[in-house]
Amino acid sequence: MRRKIIAGNWKMNLTLDEGQKLTSEIVNMYKDENVKDVIAVLNPPFPHIFPVKKLIGDIKGIAIGAQNCSDKEFGAFTGEVSAKILASFGVEYVIIGHSERREYFKETNEFLGKKVVAALAQGLTPIFCCGESLDIRNAGTHEANVKYQLTESLFGLSAGDMARVVIAYEPIWAIGTGKTATSDQAQEMHLALRRHIASKFGKELAGDISILYGGSMNAANAADLLSKPDVDGGLIGGASLKSRDFLDIIKSY
Ligand code: 13P
Repeated sequence: MRRKIIAGNWKMNLTLDEGQKLTSEIVNMYKDENVKDVIAVLNPPFPHIFPVKKLIGDIKGIAIGAQNCSDKEFGAFTGEVSAKILASFGVEYVIIGHSERREYFKETNEFLGKKVVAALAQGLTPIFCCGESLDIRNAGTHEANVKYQLTESLFGLSAGDMARVVIAYEPIWAIGTGKTATSDQAQEMHLALRRHIASKFGKELAGDISILYGGSMNAANAADLLSKPDVDGGLIGGASLKSRDFLDIIKSY
């Protein structure tokens, strides 16, 4: 079933105290302001997972995610964290293939496909990111580019596994720049992605997949973006570090 998801990607930000303060504020506002039908996912840096999870407690509607996982299950891979370890801490979601991982850590479509498989094997929901650079957008090949990312990383999955994946369309030129895609640009790309998924897995499955938009989404532009029929939520960077802004995005649905 298509879910409405607002996920906060904290990236490499916040100390322990800051993370606990932010989480407590979000949890209290979410409860007090009676949020319904929108799943909030907090994706902090790894060491925050345990305390953040504790603060969330058993509140329905708020889940915890990680920003990355290994493609391996366990073993001598210093510095890595596996989906198996994450699942044992109660993590439910994991961001895979963020453009910052692709760019700075040279993660390829093929490698990201392995991470998706590893996450699914542990019962985690991958939030699989795709998106084009400004050069590609200017060349007019953006649609082909993001379709290719999906084909390479996800089209080897079984239909049952694909149905458990969440997609995040994040144009690189919109990330952290304040240059949000227009809601029409987002809708156009989300529809193209959904049709692409349908071409491989069928219309029904594609219709059930949540496709989130990411890239300078904030409390002021969220309602417009989220009003589009193929935009099923957001993956929020900067604005997820401020509790009021994050809640306002959730409530603008
Ligand atoms: P900003 O919301 O800061 O542009 O970041 C988007 C993002 O990269 C979320 O993963």
